[in-house]
Amino acid sequence: MSTTFQLDTSTSRANPTPQPMRRLTVPALRKRKSGGVTAEPLVMLTAYTARQAQLLDEHCDLLLVGDSLGQVIYGLPSTIPVTLEMMANHGAAVVRGSYRAVVAVDMPFGSYEASPSQAFESAAYLMKASGAAAVKLEGGEAMAETVEFLVQRGVPVMGHVGLTPQAVNVLGGYGARGRSEAEAGKIVGDARALDRAGAFAIVVEGVMEPIAVAVTEAVACPAIGIGASARCDGQVLVTEDMLGMFERVPRFVKRYDDLAGRIAQAAAAYAGEVRARTFPGAAQTYPPE
Ligand code: KIV
Repeated sequence: MSTTFQLDTSTSRANPTPQPMRRLTVPALRKRKSGGVTAEPLVMLTAYTARQAQLLDEHCDLLLVGDSLGQVIYGLPSTIPVTLEMMANHGAAVVRGSYRAVVAVDMPFGSYEASPSQAFESAAYLMKASGAAAVKLEGGEAMAETVEFLVQRGVPVMGHVGLTPQAVNVLGGYGARGRSEAEAGKIVGDARALDRAGAFAIVVEGVMEPIAVAVTEAVACPAIGIGASARCDGQVLVTEDMLGMFERVPRFVKRYDDLAGRIAQAAAAYAGEVRARTFPGAAQTYPPE
């Protein structure tokens, strides 16, 4: 029987135990939208580490190892410097930490745009090195040939239209897209092209709400929104954003916690006890035999 490995969450260390294969599949997720209707919206969050994946897995249909890890984990100014190796390593950690959700790994800037063959080489490396079941790439019509090439060769692809952060130097910033009629039409056309090319889902990021709705209605595959619309077929957020890890809160983010505040409080309590010599206490020290 096919097995996957689930980290044993009852210990503080990775202790893999074989579990019956229960991971969702890309075709099963694709089929959640049928005849233009998605009865149950797709839930996707980003994950970059094994422990994060363990905690998110049971709640999500998809875990996205986003190249946003460049900013969130590595403190880089954009996603541009992110490498294939970074994506492969974090992808592998997320696959090891999950057993239910489909794991999709972002193709980083420069790893797929030159040609369909370059994209296939990069995608094959990511899938082999990480064990992820799918990749995501940014861009619309210009990437449709590449998406078709990958899908025909066994690589499930998630598209990404609207605000595409890897194109920040062309776009001039991270503002919402689709303010002009021409740009709105292009975003819908981009999504249509990816859908025809065989993308199993398309992320629609940072667009005026009517464009998100138009994309969702225009494509047969699920459209997953971020800064888009509740009428999309699913939603994605950067996990650290929704947990309240950052002071800056973009309009499209809802904070479900204040983790930054709680971490600061815990660190302050620890620092106070260390300085007062009240930590470690009797409960944390080994008494003599
Ligand atoms: O890199 C990322 O995290 C993403 C999501 C925001 C969709 O692309």
